[in-house]
Order: sequence, then structure tokens, then C-alpha cells
Amino acid sequence: MLAAAAAPLPPPSGWRYALVDLPHRPNQVAVDLEVNGEQYTVLVEPRRSLVDCLRDDLGLTGSHVGCEQGVCGACTVLLDGEAVRGCLLLTVQAQGTSITTVEGLAQGGELSPLQSAFHESFALQCGYCTPGFLISSLALLARNPHPSRTEVREALSGNLCRCTGYDTIVDAVMASSR
Ligand code: FES
Ligand code: FES
Repeated sequence: MLAAAAAPLPPPSGWRYALVDLPHRPNQVAVDLEVNGEQYTVLVEPRRSLVDCLRDDLGLTGSHVGCEQGVCGACTVLLDGEAVRGCLLLTVQAQGTSITTVEGLAQGGELSPLQSAFHESFALQCGYCTPGFLISSLALLARNPHPSRTEVREALSGNLCRCTGYDTIVDAVMASSR
């Protein structure tokens, strides 16, 4: 028999809470996250992956799920500025961190320069891999603003694309690094 759950505390001013159903999910833990500049506290099971939390709890479905084993890169997000696999991290491991997903790139309805470069370079077809490529490219450009084509290829070697091919993606990153 489930113990009656205590009424959840009201959120601190300025924080957004993901909707939860405590009585039927008694093993949840609270995790504080900053995502794309917004503060959240989510209640998740300890085994919940970060990408599932972002997509299903916060509705940020731009981060995609492909292999779920760290191979394809579709789930890549920035965590405190580092590109990480959202499928390999537990949400609880992200406690107190700042996360950027693809939804955080455009500002005021305008694509970011990197997104525009992908568009202008025809660096996507179906787009399934694109959020991961954008995030990995951002991480590269943050630590190396003027990479060589070889460095771009190395930095993106953990992201798989099944339809575009890689030359136009490298073109896009090179274009946005000029
Ligand atoms: S879904 Fe995470 S690396 Fe493929
Ligand atoms: S654009 Fe389709 S998988 Fe990359």
C-alpha cells in the first residue's frame, strides 16, 4: 500500500515545476536544472535519462533519441558548456547544472548564425541528426573558434547522419567560424 504523499511545496518564485503525480510514483527525487535560461525543478525516478526528462517532462523534443547507447549523438546537449549524451546521463547527475538544448539556440525567432549556416549550406535533409550536430558544433566553436576541416570532422565524429553526408555539415561549421 502506498503511503500518502505529502503535499508538494510550492515552487520558489520564478521557478517552473514539471507536472508530476507523486502518489503513484513514490520513488521520485527532485532535481534542479537550468534549461535554456529557465529554472526548473523536476521530480524524476533516479534511473530517468536526461534526454527523456528534457523531452517528456519539459516538452523540449528537439533533442532526439536514436541509439540510446551513446553512439549516434542525436541526443547531444550542452551541460555547463560541454557536449554530453543525454541518453547516457541520468537526470540526477545533472543536478544544479545549466543545460542548452537546440531550442535554446534561436533568439527572438531568429536562427542562430550556426543554424543559418546549416540552412544555407544544405547541411540537413531529414533533420533527425541536426540538433546533435548543432550542439556538438557549438561546443567545438566555443573551445576552438577557427577550426580546420580536419578538426571539425574529428569533433563531429561522434555524430551520425544517415542521409546528408558529412561534407555540407563541415561546410556549415567552417562558414560559421569565419
Ligand atoms: S540516442 Fe544518445 S547517442 Fe544515440
Ligand atoms: S539529415 Fe537525416 S540523419 Fe542527418
